[in-house]
Amino acid sequence: MRRAPARREPEVNGRKENLNRREGDEKDEQKKTHTVPRHLGGEDEAAGEEAQRAVVRTAVLVRRGVQGRCRAACREPKEHCGHQPSQRGPQAFAEHRMEATGMHFGRTSPASRRQGKANDRAWLNPRLYLQAEAGMLRAMAEAPAKPSRLFTRRRIFKGLGYAALAGAGGAAWMRFVEPSWLKLSNVRVPLSDGSRPTLRLLQLSDFHASPVVPLELVKSAVELALAQQPDLACLTGDFITHQFGQFDDYAALLKRLSDVVPTFAVFGNHDGGSWAARAYSGARDKSLSELRAESGWFHAASQARHRLLGHSGGYADTSSVRAMLTAARVEVLHNRSVELTIKGRKLTLVGTGDLWAQELKADEAFAGVKPADDRDIVCLSHNPDGKDALKPHPWSLVLCGHTHGGQLEIPFFGTPLAPVHDHRFVRGLHRWENRWIHITKGVGNLHGLRFNCRPEVNVVELA
Ligand SMILES: [Fe+2]
Repeated sequence: MRRAPARREPEVNGRKENLNRREGDEKDEQKKTHTVPRHLGGEDEAAGEEAQRAVVRTAVLVRRGVQGRCRAACREPKEHCGHQPSQRGPQAFAEHRMEATGMHFGRTSPASRRQGKANDRAWLNPRLYLQAEAGMLRAMAEAPAKPSRLFTRRRIFKGLGYAALAGAGGAAWMRFVEPSWLKLSNVRVPLSDGSRPTLRLLQLSDFHASPVVPLELVKSAVELALAQQPDLACLTGDFITHQFGQFDDYAALLKRLSDVVPTFAVFGNHDGGSWAARAYSGARDKSLSELRAESGWFHAASQARHRLLGHSGGYADTSSVRAMLTAARVEVLHNRSVELTIKGRKLTLVGTGDLWAQELKADEAFAGVKPADDRDIVCLSHNPDGKDALKPHPWSLVLCGHTHGGQLEIPFFGTPLAPVHDHRFVRGLHRWENRWIHITKGVGNLHGLRFNCRPEVNVVELA
């Protein structure tokens, strides 16, 4: 008598499972549950597609093995999802996934719907569900890619949404993050053969105290500067943007610097004078094209705005800022020089007036300054465009501010808004005519904006 061949146990998830059923029962069950494939793309197209998506989503999540979360579609933390299978094993797991994907939870099978049933929780067989899922994933993997259009309405709206989000984020960064994110910059300038002691010269510039640059930022810069243990400090102009009302607090702040190191300053174009009186008042005595030719289109546009708003402008002379610096015990070098000996190293500091204020008087500033082998001559001049006026005079390093490093550095375009004619000298240390020019990005800013150009405190090591 021939023995009937042993029945192969069905495999679910690669594991054999004894469903403890007869062959006949399985066939009956397959008949009973033949609606499964139909649901995964059957008559009801919408329901079928949704079911397919749910199954794929579930399968992907299960394969990722998201730890600590429901391994079904809901992805909630395990303790909250409510989809915990009541027992272990592939069948229970399949039931769990079915429930999570909503295959029968709160839905009605087409067969049940035809029969007028509202819900039929038992219309899917877990084993067939797994088989269907595996088959469908295979089919999807083998299916040719759908031809996609580059510009669909959804993609266009999505792109616009991302662009708006990036724009808002960038604007917030430019206004609220970068302008107050101070950076310490160190640069070494070889002025001698190395036999002289190195001096740590601190350069701070363009504080631009104003409604958009609070004194707290100046205070942070001074504290950062003092922590560098400098030998002397040089302030290269633009202490304010336009008229200012807190000079006493300002002087107290700068005095913290001058109490520790000898501190010297020159004026910038914003500190008072012919340019400052015109600036921020709309410069009504000049046409916008003249202003553009004089100091760039950004400045001209800014003046046009001040004309429209009827602003009053800056100070007609530097007396207010000078009084504040005097109260802070900062020595002003306005077209004059001073001789110093620090740590045994001889140094002449020359300070000039501002170029735009038409107060840069190089002959006056260098009067009596003679080059000597044992002495370095360092010049403080706010605007780097003033280098041509300084060229005939004996200096080896000039320290400038004014540009704010361009303030907005646009990728691939550089710093088109820097208010200088010679855009080679916008920031950093440069060699020019066998001498050195250092331009700092400054501490403050105009209009409260900076991009890709952090404010900085500079330590210039005179080697
Ligand atoms: Fe400035």
